[in-house]
Amino acid sequence: MSSPLFAKKPLSLLLEEMKGENRLRRVLGPVTLTSLGVGAIIGTGIFVLTGVGAHDKAGPALILSFAASGVACIFAALCYAEFASMAPVAGSAYTYAYATLGELFAWIIGWDLVLEYAVASAAVAHGWSAHFQDLLKSFGIVIPFSLSTAPIDFDTGAGHFFATGSYFDLSAVLITAIITAILIKGIKESAIFNTGMVIVKLVIVLFVIVVGVFYIDPNNWQPFAPYGFTGISFFGHTLFGQTASNGVPLGMLAGAAIIFFAYIGFDSVSTHAEEARNPQRDVPIGIIASLLICTVLYIAVSAIITGMVRYDQIDINAPVANAFAQKGLPWAQRLIDVGAITGITSVLLVMMLSQPRVLLAMARDGMVPESFFGAIHEKFRTPWKSTILTGIFVAAMATLLPLRILAELTNIGTLLAFVIVCTAVLIMRKTNPKAERPFRAPWVPFVPIAGIVCCSILMFSLPVENWWRLFIWLGIGFIIYFSYGRRHCVTARIRRGEVIVPTSEK
Ligand code: ALA
Repeated sequence: MSSPLFAKKPLSLLLEEMKGENRLRRVLGPVTLTSLGVGAIIGTGIFVLTGVGAHDKAGPALILSFAASGVACIFAALCYAEFASMAPVAGSAYTYAYATLGELFAWIIGWDLVLEYAVASAAVAHGWSAHFQDLLKSFGIVIPFSLSTAPIDFDTGAGHFFATGSYFDLSAVLITAIITAILIKGIKESAIFNTGMVIVKLVIVLFVIVVGVFYIDPNNWQPFAPYGFTGISFFGHTLFGQTASNGVPLGMLAGAAIIFFAYIGFDSVSTHAEEARNPQRDVPIGIIASLLICTVLYIAVSAIITGMVRYDQIDINAPVANAFAQKGLPWAQRLIDVGAITGITSVLLVMMLSQPRVLLAMARDGMVPESFFGAIHEKFRTPWKSTILTGIFVAAMATLLPLRILAELTNIGTLLAFVIVCTAVLIMRKTNPKAERPFRAPWVPFVPIAGIVCCSILMFSLPVENWWRLFIWLGIGFIIYFSYGRRHCVTARIRRGEVIVPTSEK
């Protein structure tokens, strides 16, 4: 791997950059970091995608889907935590890849993280809009159809896009604009705002569990796995399990691949390493605690919902709220709607907070123009220009594309990022065995290898068109890398013999 494409950013330079004044404010402690993690995790996945997962993919075995997806995430989370403790700077997986796998992989993962954060934000904004419109409807207010949803959708049966007849999703654009404004104002304010919303959504999720348990009919858990326990295909050819008439895989693992979206966000804690007061200790705590809390809650909620309503009667748009409506509890339905809107708002907040920070790390390395993506607001100390650009991108994507396409694209991109991070931990243990690791992933090499295997299985359990979309996305990324990043990045400058001034001293 002596090609310049695999040139690595020296770990010493990375650590040097952590010092100095031109950085973000260190204001976050372990509770706030865990809260940011939970804030990024519980949202559209549990409140919306549980419906498709149970109804169309897994049946009551969705409970196991949540367990399977949670296990894959825990392996990846342990690897993230090791890296976050070694190099607690903004940038998350991108930064780790640059130090271990080199320039090209760093670019791939940085570009891939746009799928995870910005495209996920668009899916989430869409979910927010759907719940918001639902709530308005319960008060007799109806947003005109032409302003209610994306103009196109994808017909999986026929395999092509079709026009919905709407112009754009007004509520999604408005919530994106509001969140963008809050984020420009600052991380401290954003974290306080987030903590409030996290408390509300945790209360609602606990309400679902505590009240819902009285409405369970165990007969609804039979048959437990109507679509089987697998659901893996290889580029359109089913290897294990059932296949729907349109060729997509069905079964417990296919359900796990969809609801994987519900877990996305725990890794965003690592993008705040630079704003943590004691990153070596608190970032691993934040990542692992938030993931464990959510895994337990998700398994409980999916058991409750599939126990309350037969899987083929579960609503695919608002499954949790609707389960209570089916039991004659409209007040509970409205309460859950409010909780879902609140929960989804905090996801949007954390996701849109993370994207500019990854771009900031890439800008400091010269992968993208620093004058724009590296600009920190003098008063607010936030990366304001890229926050605005992220807001525009999210609003545009949410406006144009439907939720399911955005969610699946996010899943495949995030799973790829997890595979790369697990691989990077393996490599780093070999190449830098003596580097300080305040947090060490246990049972290496088992944990990273298990992470790679589990995440790859989930990638192959997604409908095949997602692979093509991922390749197109990466292709666009390569064009940008070869026309800009390759010449301007820090390793290129080191090759040219330039003296690198750590960003902390600029
Ligand atoms: N995990 C986040 C959600 O479910 C992305 O909304």
